Amino acid sequence: MEAARMRLETILLDAQAAGLSRSEAVRLAAARRPKHWRVKICRIVLLIMALAIVVKAKLYTIEGITTAWMWYYGRHPTADKCAVWMPDVAYHVFRPPVDCTVCRDVHQVERVYNITPEEFETKYAFSGRPVIVSDAMKNWTAPYIFSFGFFRELYAGSKAQDRCQFFAYKTNFSFLWEVFEMPKERAELHNGQEPWYVGWSNCDEEVGQIIRDHYSKPYFLPKNSENKNTDWIFMGSKGFGAHMHVDNVNNPSWQAQLAGAKNWTLLPPPECIYECLSHQVTINQGEIFVLDTNIWYHSTLIVSDGISITIGAEFCTTYFLLHELSSKLLVPAYLKLAGMMEGIFNFNR
Ligand SMILES: *[C@@H]1O[C@H](CO)[C@@H](O)[C@H](O)[C@H]1NC(C)=O
Ligand SMILES: *[C@@H]1O[C@H](CO)[C@@H](O)[C@H](O)[C@H]1NC(C)=O
Ligand SMILES: *[C@@H]1O[C@H](CO)[C@@H](O)[C@H](O)[C@H]1NC(C)=O
Repeated sequence: MEAARMRLETILLDAQAAGLSRSEAVRLAAARRPKHWRVKICRIVLLIMALAIVVKAKLYTIEGITTAWMWYYGRHPTADKCAVWMPDVAYHVFRPPVDCTVCRDVHQVERVYNITPEEFETKYAFSGRPVIVSDAMKNWTAPYIFSFGFFRELYAGSKAQDRCQFFAYKTNFSFLWEVFEMPKERAELHNGQEPWYVGWSNCDEEVGQIIRDHYSKPYFLPKNSENKNTDWIFMGSKGFGAHMHVDNVNNPSWQAQLAGAKNWTLLPPPECIYECLSHQVTINQGEIFVLDTNIWYHSTLIVSDGISITIGAEFCTTYFLLHELSSKLLVPAYLKLAGMMEGIFNFNR
């Protein structure tokens, strides 16, 4: 250190002798040497590598960015594309009032069959327009396999399920395993037995594997859409159902009527009652009902004499996620900010 200082002093003295000012000499000493060619090649190689990563991961597309984002947060993109990675709190704070265009043009709930994923995506998937697909279980085995007894066997000894969501409705069950302990006569809906209706989301991965062997993703869902990993199952007897409510699940969902028949009553959001109609539809065995349960208030009522069994799941696409993020989070946040700025300026005037 001392040696270096001495050297600098010598250089500065030499420079002064040569007629340079002290500050000019310091600037000269600090001037960088021309870059070595190896450094240049290194930079070029790094640039090419960065470009290769961008191209390979398709970071110039919405899907690529989403996948990278999910990878960064440790989520497997194919397993759980519906994962909502925007913080829930932010989502609700910025949730705008429902735009009544989602229900204004719904004059009736359409029944379709043999619909292509493209047509489904443009007309129904994320438009808020409910639809019944009548031929949706073509090669499913679930309608022949799923029953009270099947589920009782499946969940026997399942510990994972005890921590999962369970809806008792008007019954006095507190856990799913209590449901499976009801007397055979009640389970089989014999005359004079107390009716029952319950629902649960599946949390047991092993059970999930088995039930998914008996149904596949509905054929009409858009190509790049994914089922959310949780399956919902509802089971019960005539005259029972869910009371009028609206969900808070972020995605539209499909509900497959595997056994029995169910009436659905749909009401538009309260702010749209003067613009939109309410609807009542019957979903028969073999049909799938697609509904955005976040928009439509809905209640259900089992109308078949035999047991009603439905299974459902949320669905979404990566594109939809980004669309949601920008329209429900970024744009309202921006508008809020703009409103605040305006307020400040008005105040100052
Ligand atoms: C139904 O058919 C599709 C393709 O045709 C297949 O991928 C799926 O596994 C089948 N599902 C069942 C439950 O057999
Ligand atoms: C539910 O109520 C019935 C009587 O209505 C009773 O027999 C049964 O033990 C109760 N079940 C539970 C799980 O509490
Ligand atoms: C079920 O809905 C149908 C219309 O789809 C209606 O005609 C019928 O009365 C309803 N049944 C009950 C019990 O509400």
